[in-house]
Amino acid sequence: MKRLILTAAMALTIPMTMNAQPKLTPSNIDEVMAAMTLEEKAQLLVGGANNFFADQAVVGGEAEQVPGAAGTTAAIPRLGIPATILTDGPAGVRINPTRKGDSQTYYATGFPIGTCLASTWNTELVSQVGAAIGRETKEYRCDVVLGPGMNLHRNPLCGRNFEYYSEDPLLTGKIAAAYINGVQGEGVGTSAKHFAVNSQETARTSVDERLSQRAARELYLRGFEIAVRESQPWTIMASYNQVNGQYSMGNRDLLTSILRDDWGYKGMVMTDWIGIRQGLKTTDEVAAGNDLMEPGQPAQCAEIVAGVKSGALKMEDVDRNVRRMLEYIVKTPAFLKYAYTNKPDLKAHAAITRQSACEGIVLLKNNGTLPWSTPQCQAPATGTGERPLVRQVALFGENSYDFFSGGTGSGCVHTPYVVDMVEGLANAGIASTATLTDIYKKYVDYAKVKFQAERHPAKWYQLEAFGQQKYPEIGISPILVNAEAKKADAAIVTIGRQAGEGVDRDIATEFNLIDEERDLIFNVCRAFHALGKPVVVVINSGSVVETASWSAYPDAIVCAWQPGEEGGNSVADILTGKVCPSGRLTMTWPVSATDHPSTANFPGMLDFYSYQELKSGGHQAQNYDFTLHEEDIYVGYRYFDTFGREVAFPFGYGLSYTTFAYSGMKVRAGRDEVTVSVTVRNTGRVSGKEVVQLYVAAPQGKLEKPAHELKAFAKTRELKPGEQQTLTLSVPVRLLASFDEEASQWLTEAGYYTFAIGASSRDIKATAQARLDTYTEKVSQALAPQEPLKRLTQKK
Ligand code: BGC
Repeated sequence: MKRLILTAAMALTIPMTMNAQPKLTPSNIDEVMAAMTLEEKAQLLVGGANNFFADQAVVGGEAEQVPGAAGTTAAIPRLGIPATILTDGPAGVRINPTRKGDSQTYYATGFPIGTCLASTWNTELVSQVGAAIGRETKEYRCDVVLGPGMNLHRNPLCGRNFEYYSEDPLLTGKIAAAYINGVQGEGVGTSAKHFAVNSQETARTSVDERLSQRAARELYLRGFEIAVRESQPWTIMASYNQVNGQYSMGNRDLLTSILRDDWGYKGMVMTDWIGIRQGLKTTDEVAAGNDLMEPGQPAQCAEIVAGVKSGALKMEDVDRNVRRMLEYIVKTPAFLKYAYTNKPDLKAHAAITRQSACEGIVLLKNNGTLPWSTPQCQAPATGTGERPLVRQVALFGENSYDFFSGGTGSGCVHTPYVVDMVEGLANAGIASTATLTDIYKKYVDYAKVKFQAERHPAKWYQLEAFGQQKYPEIGISPILVNAEAKKADAAIVTIGRQAGEGVDRDIATEFNLIDEERDLIFNVCRAFHALGKPVVVVINSGSVVETASWSAYPDAIVCAWQPGEEGGNSVADILTGKVCPSGRLTMTWPVSATDHPSTANFPGMLDFYSYQELKSGGHQAQNYDFTLHEEDIYVGYRYFDTFGREVAFPFGYGLSYTTFAYSGMKVRAGRDEVTVSVTVRNTGRVSGKEVVQLYVAAPQGKLEKPAHELKAFAKTRELKPGEQQTLTLSVPVRLLASFDEEASQWLTEAGYYTFAIGASSRDIKATAQARLDTYTEKVSQALAPQEPLKRLTQKK
């Protein structure tokens, strides 16, 4: 109370002149605000010095720089307000690895990409990764890591799916919250991005995503809601795109009504990196609740100042945002003068990335060949016969030799090294055959030079500075394949896919395998199988690829994702059984990309020239100017399981080297929460972890419901053969609700709910029912579509 009175008195007595010079502390924000000029306030709402093209560090003052960081917030030294530095992520700290006139290097650990991390289904592990990223961020003098990326995998063709977690909002929200809590536990901020409905890259800075309020609330926003409630990210990044006719960055419904009023968000919101944009005023962004314009242009400060002076922008809106900026700044390492070292513990973090990647790798097929024994170590006996001894392997596919640690764009990290398959296997005691290794290594060296020389200048994302590139496969003649089959004990074919910011994937050459890759798999399988030798396909991709046309051929398929800088070691740990696979898919793998109903409304169907033609005729181009979410709530398994469609691999799927039995399932329904317990027993011959997934089927009432939805999950500890663990999962009743557009409320309808424990969405192990009463929760009426939408429904 005393402080309040003092503060109010000061606001009255201290004039807004340059003479009042309080220095910012966590408890004098009012005083500092009273001392700020309008120009200084505007400055604080607009990003500071641009670090991206800096080649030297600048410490202190108004132009603080960490070379390669994405942006800064402005410093106002006279009031003790330091610049804070925002670095890209989410798979590690993205700064330049070298600096002009400086012999030290600034490489950062490449952690597993989003899909790989989420595939661990292990929130504790994800928090440990977050903590390591947090430590690296502050050791490299940055304050916020711009992640996690948490847009929904609406469609497998989105170029940035690798940064994101899942087609399911609950899994997305829980993994994101774990990441955020891990980073922020180190006193470093995060920026949950891109808020919201940014599930395509084509025309991402302008496209209008048109969707129902129900799909928005239940799917595209729910992950963010969970993350906000469970981890309060210091910052949130508003996306480039429009949602139902309004840019997210100036969308009051999103940034204030939903984010703050409905969810209780306390942190600050920043824009994605666009500066001034056509059709949206900076003053409208400020008024809508966007606190920080990034990367920031001086003209935006001028616009804010002019807006206040003309009365177009309310001073109280500016003050509200300035306060949020100051509340953020006082938490940062820059403000707290953290004694950074520029020497993060890269060795310790490499161990974390290796282990976390192992848990995210998903074993898609195994006819019993894996794990392999090596001369160094005997693979554990799994009960499926004697383990094959593999001393020498023939490694096919250019990405065996240039393994992708992560994707391209702002999400790529400058890692000190990437362990490829040759090195990873060698570390495990398995050699690669000499001739093939020589051919491929020379090819990769040549392809790198040729590709960069021939790169189209407009394709910035193909610059090496934005990540490893995919080079064409070389043809390997059947004669060479036959010769390799005689020499090697086994073959590995690595299928690599690269994707990233700014571009979506195409079906023909990026989702599907190209002819050379299919031929390679067939030829290798034919030659090796003729001699009784196994073939494993390793998928080194950030997102889903087609498997149905070739998966019958190899003995095993390992989805390694893009597992970070220790990639080859992590894959070798799985192949040799050092680690028992426990990763599970976080998205459905369809038979064909067009099986997803959203593919009909996804870019890629219209080429750029037809788009230009349409535009010049004054027409709006579907999937470019606007994207219709006609699949509505039927995204991923919500569609495939409800409409009974065949899939290549279902959501939640993944094999292990051991087996598990479930027993004693119990459901207890309370007023606010349902608890489900189940005992999992390792019934196999090796130690392993199991992911327990809880799906809930609701009674059909007023609102149409998908067949079932994931409502909780947990991972067991490592269980030894014969060991068991009882897991208890809780589901808040509010999370069982669907969005009732008519009443603008969350609604859990009364009736009998089926709780199902599954090892995937299609492998249900036990079920139980419980009766629930009606639950409602009123929320703001927000994001209404401008025109009615055609929507996919079960009702005929
Ligand atoms: C991306 C963001 C990124 C920002 C800063 C944008 O183009 O969409 O994810 O954080 O650039 O690099």
